[in-house]
Amino acid sequence: MKILCVCGARPNFMKIAPIVDAFSKAGIDRAIVHTGQHYSPEMSRNFFDQLEIPKPDVNLEAGPGSHAFQTAEIIRRFEPVVIDQKPDAVLVVGDVNSTIACGLTAVKLGIKLIHVEAGLRSFDKAMPEEINRILTDSISDMLFVSEPSGIENLRREGRPEEAVFLAGNVMIDTLFKRLSKAGNSDILKRLGLKEKEFLTLTLHRPENVDSRESLLKAAELIERASEQLKIVLPLHPRTKRAFKQAGLEERITGIENLVICPPLNYIDFLRLLSTNACALTDSGGVQEETTALGIPCITLRKNTERPITITEGTNTLTGLNPEKAASQIKKLSENNFKAEGRCPKLWDGKAAERIAAEVIKTLA
Ligand code: UD1
Repeated sequence: MKILCVCGARPNFMKIAPIVDAFSKAGIDRAIVHTGQHYSPEMSRNFFDQLEIPKPDVNLEAGPGSHAFQTAEIIRRFEPVVIDQKPDAVLVVGDVNSTIACGLTAVKLGIKLIHVEAGLRSFDKAMPEEINRILTDSISDMLFVSEPSGIENLRREGRPEEAVFLAGNVMIDTLFKRLSKAGNSDILKRLGLKEKEFLTLTLHRPENVDSRESLLKAAELIERASEQLKIVLPLHPRTKRAFKQAGLEERITGIENLVICPPLNYIDFLRLLSTNACALTDSGGVQEETTALGIPCITLRKNTERPITITEGTNTLTGLNPEKAASQIKKLSENNFKAEGRCPKLWDGKAAERIAAEVIKTLA
């Protein structure tokens, strides 16, 4: 059995790493295809090195562009690879443009499609990822979900029960595997931070950074939060460019209690997340990682496609609302940033093993 495993953007790499490893151990012939959606060393190669992902067998080098251009470019470049490699299945992860582009290419060539992290829904079609999720799930033959809400959503959308599997969370496989190594990172020292005395902020969603109005809110939110605790902000390239274009660069860099650094590698970032008082984020992955670590998370979005991080985990939604975020930080600080929550079922470091076993059972 041969499976093409696709990855393309930063959050894909933590998900594909344990899958590739589990497939190799289970004797599945697999090839890695990197679409090149993310291409800078700090957004891509560093993750391959640290997560010990084998070098991609194919790199499509699609690069940046508008959504239509990027998606089309990946489709155009992936098609000859599938024709040449003749896989039994193509596996895609997550919800980025690479996910739908390669999924669509596969099914149009009559190749079976496996989607890992299926079924998540924010019910907000203004999010590009929501479109990617719905479309990918609607054409996939095997749907591996990370939390029970995914099963409900796929059922409601009429996906056949026998195609849906509750596998657990592959991103958390990677987190547990690398946690002890993160303990050796010297990032706190390098950035002048003390355990439990800082907040980690990540911000890159289009709805939060693509308009001047939301960037002004973000600036105010950072200013208010920084009055309570030191903040570290590993700055996503999209956000960096947005602040600059909006003429807000000086206002942001002038915030006294804010440390800005380039995007961090996996181990350094995990060190921050596991030692900070709290995370402020609009990322999907960070909501899950903080839940697994039992660290409080304030999500700067109006909704989440990962409701289990709220119902069982440590997550709270405030939107990009400076007032609400500041009062949530205050509330948490009054409780010494102790989080109430538990790690969801099957977020146990073995999700990829379960996926490999199910793939063999179904496709062999
Ligand atoms: C993409 C994903 C998003 C994911 C995020 C993580 C989609 C629709 N969005 O958004 O779900 O949370 O990745 O980072 O797929 N850039 C670089 N170097 C890189 C990559 C990008 O400088 O390695 C710059 C480019 O100028 C590019 C911009 O960042 O235009 C945005 O990159 P893109 O892949 O288009 O979207 P993200 O915002 O990163």
